[in-house]
Amino acid sequence: MWRQSSVEGMGLLLGCAFLAACAQEGPTTLKDAYADYFLVGAAVNAQLVSGGDTLAAAIVRQQFNTITPENSLKWERVHPEPGRYDFDVPDRFVEFGERNGMVLIGHTLVWHNQTPRWVFQDAAGNPVSRDTLLDRMRDHIHTVVGRYKGRIHGWDVVNEAVDEDGSLRRSPWLEIIGEDYVARAFWFAHEVDPNAELYYNDYSLQNPAKREGALRLISDLKAQGVPVAAVGLQDHIHLDAPSIEQIDATIADFANLGVKVVITELDVDVLPEATRAEATRAEATREQGAEIAQRAEMQEGLNPYVDGLPDSVQQGLATRYHDVFAVYLKHQDTIDRVTFWGVTDAGSWKNNWPVPGRTNYPLLFDREGRPKPAFDAVIRAAQEAGSESPD
Ligand code: GLA
Repeated sequence: MWRQSSVEGMGLLLGCAFLAACAQEGPTTLKDAYADYFLVGAAVNAQLVSGGDTLAAAIVRQQFNTITPENSLKWERVHPEPGRYDFDVPDRFVEFGERNGMVLIGHTLVWHNQTPRWVFQDAAGNPVSRDTLLDRMRDHIHTVVGRYKGRIHGWDVVNEAVDEDGSLRRSPWLEIIGEDYVARAFWFAHEVDPNAELYYNDYSLQNPAKREGALRLISDLKAQGVPVAAVGLQDHIHLDAPSIEQIDATIADFANLGVKVVITELDVDVLPEATRAEATRAEATREQGAEIAQRAEMQEGLNPYVDGLPDSVQQGLATRYHDVFAVYLKHQDTIDRVTFWGVTDAGSWKNNWPVPGRTNYPLLFDREGRPKPAFDAVIRAAQEAGSESPD
């Protein structure tokens, strides 16, 4: 408990410790700094919502006004076997969020990863028919969305359906149901909770071919009247890629389709890219993106900051975060929410992907839960936007 109270008690102090201009009054929490622009959130894990990580929980309560469960609503966790749902952790997630007045996001209903094989197979291990898979999809969506109807505000309905070349990914969903599986998933969610916001979520949409494919998919869905409220840009990015111009253009392209944009899984990888020299172009974009099935091996030089982040990289990360938020602020009329994929560097998936066992620094709070210079840079971006506004 001492950790929780020390963090809560020292919250503003910690924020100020790194703020050069702390004397110059201003909001020192993310949710306050961005209150006029968009929601700011974090993905939270089972430990956090179950009371086992009081340090991260205190940061979330202090800094964020929206949360997404990192894993507990993925099919393999919430519906591990036919007919068996496990709502223990998702219920705690919803209770934690409601207790703290947060906007709750559900992640994710239909995806090719972290979905058990039985979903696509019959008892003999053969692929099921289109009708059977549609029935399973409907049952899953109705049960999960229905349980939290009116409490979970928005859902990542379909995750990562577009491949690097812009075509629909050849997942079992596509192979068995056909192209309309995406629309069907949205309708199943809509019929059970017509007030929930429904999202299409993907990574690497700054890459031209993939972006074109996603734009095509979204405009087709819109043309059919499918209730897609927003596109989720995951934004698992690097220190120097994609460029600010690419991030800017990607948001603008989706805004032009008349959908909102939500930034759903933001983090900035500071480590050397693990892309193998012999990787094909598609493999390379997957390794730089977020294809979690992709794994690279540890090699010399890939884990340079085990003993701490050099100041130059720390400052580079702060600049990167500042510039990225400046672009988000530019699109504040389109962007409803920015969610980080994790709370502190200690809990980030980036320590284990695409190379397991590295020491990465992708978030705004360090391993002890202290705000990093990147935190101050994000606050500063909001203050700059505020001082530029006409009133
Ligand atoms: C993808 C998924 C997330 C998560 C991340 C890595 O981006 O959408 O649920 O698995 O990969 O944690």
